[in-house]
Amino acid sequence: MGTNGPQPPADDLRIRPAIPEDGDLVTAVLTASYGALWRGHYANSDLEAVLPLVTIAQPRLLASHRFFLVFAGDQAAGCGGWSEDVPGKPGHVVEGTGHIRHFGVDPAHLRKGIGHMLYRACRDQAVQAGIVRLEAWSSLQAVPFYQRLGFRIIEPFAIEMGNGVRLASMRMSTDLH
Ligand SMILES: CC(C)(COP(=O)(O)OP(=O)(O)OC[C@H]1O[C@@H](n2cnc3c(N)ncnc32)[C@H](O)[C@@H]1OP(=O)(O)O)[C@@H](O)C(=O)NCCC(=O)NCCS
Repeated sequence: MGTNGPQPPADDLRIRPAIPEDGDLVTAVLTASYGALWRGHYANSDLEAVLPLVTIAQPRLLASHRFFLVFAGDQAAGCGGWSEDVPGKPGHVVEGTGHIRHFGVDPAHLRKGIGHMLYRACRDQAVQAGIVRLEAWSSLQAVPFYQRLGFRIIEPFAIEMGNGVRLASMRMSTDLH
């Protein structure tokens, strides 16, 4: 058989909206992602306090039709979405502004364009919904990724985790045209 025909992609990447039943899959992706990729960016003692809280899938996001999973073959490799709600303040909306939520890519699948694929899905939906500005409350690890997508740094700030723990983050935003 000849070898000059089109080659299959290195990874068969597929994206679909998450459903409420995807909670375990999403939690597994976030746990693998944040647990490995945040090391070196935060003190280990901070990670111990924060990781159990931030890696749990959020039912409200899963049910929103605005949260996505990417599969590499049959393996869940990334997740992420957006909301009009301000993170941590369900029902609190700033008109025209959307928020990037719970992006995570499994460390085994980094730099294959999965994060970008998730962002495109979010951005396209947000534009359709009349959103003109997206904010990302980025982890310290993810800042270069959001900058590459066109986000600018607004300010460093600390996300209140609700149990007295604060997570150092970067508030970033981009205008949608
Ligand atoms: C940030 C994250 C989602 C990126 O996922 P990814 O699938 O590897 O990203 P992509 O492959 O789509 O990267 C797109 C571009 O962003 C930039 N980029 C991504 N990760 C980067 C990094 N660690 N350092 C520098 N640039 C980076 C690159 O320019 C990249 O393009 P290239 O690979 O052609 O150079 C992933 O590193 C992650 O899951 N981080 C931990 C979770 C996290 O902190 N999420 C944010 C919470 S708000």
